[in-house]
Amino acid sequence: MAVPVDISPVTLEQIPLIQDRRFDLRDVFGNDAPVELELGIGKGRFLIQQAETRPQTNFVGIEWASRYYRLVAERAAKRGLSNLRVLRDDAGKVVRDNVADKSISVLHVYFPDPWPKAKHNKRRLIQAPFAVEAARILRDGGLVRLATDHEDYAVQMEQVFRDDPQFDQTFRAIGDEAPEGVTNWEVKFRREGRTIHKFEFTRKPRESA
Ligand SMILES: C[S@@+](CC[C@H](N)C(=O)[O-])C[C@H]1O[C@@H](n2cnc3c(N)ncnc32)[C@H](O)[C@@H]1O
Repeated sequence: MAVPVDISPVTLEQIPLIQDRRFDLRDVFGNDAPVELELGIGKGRFLIQQAETRPQTNFVGIEWASRYYRLVAERAAKRGLSNLRVLRDDAGKVVRDNVADKSISVLHVYFPDPWPKAKHNKRRLIQAPFAVEAARILRDGGLVRLATDHEDYAVQMEQVFRDDPQFDQTFRAIGDEAPEGVTNWEVKFRREGRTIHKFEFTRKPRESA
């Protein structure tokens, strides 16, 4: 039986309580609405806008930086958003250790830190093991949406998901072709005239046993 979990508001002290098991994020909300997960939410512009305009969908955001996490938690509370939760932790670790199989309908990863120095590339979130975890947590037909302004990371993230047999690529756009999004970093990068890369991959249906 599913054990209800309350992760809102999550304080740093509460996090260890949920770190030792995987849980279905749907249980957090007490309803069966689809859950979308954003990793590295920054100041939360995208997540809050989505939660406000799509009340029939639940949203969870994971953010490492305490100040951003607190800012988004405060903004969500002020707006009384019952379909939004934020968690302060390492996104890759939470996905791997805490998110249940087939529990997510859309995984959003926008402008993840590019770790541009070659010796730091291994710290990038989007690597082959991450795609395996994404395939595990997404329900059949679920989506991964990715954006970056970093050319080398764009090549890497597209290749990682193309190489994973659980995904089909369903969208790619670069520069002017890329539809405008609303994350804080996208707004800033567009003003600076940077080239933005966007990708979408669809999780293939699992073969029935
Ligand atoms: C470049 S910003 C992009 C923020 C947001 N996605 C946007 O597009 O406006 C990257 C964000 O990811 C967060 N971040 C970096 N590493 C992280 C990790 N391991 N787990 C969770 N968040 C992380 C950073 O604190 C920062 O808020």
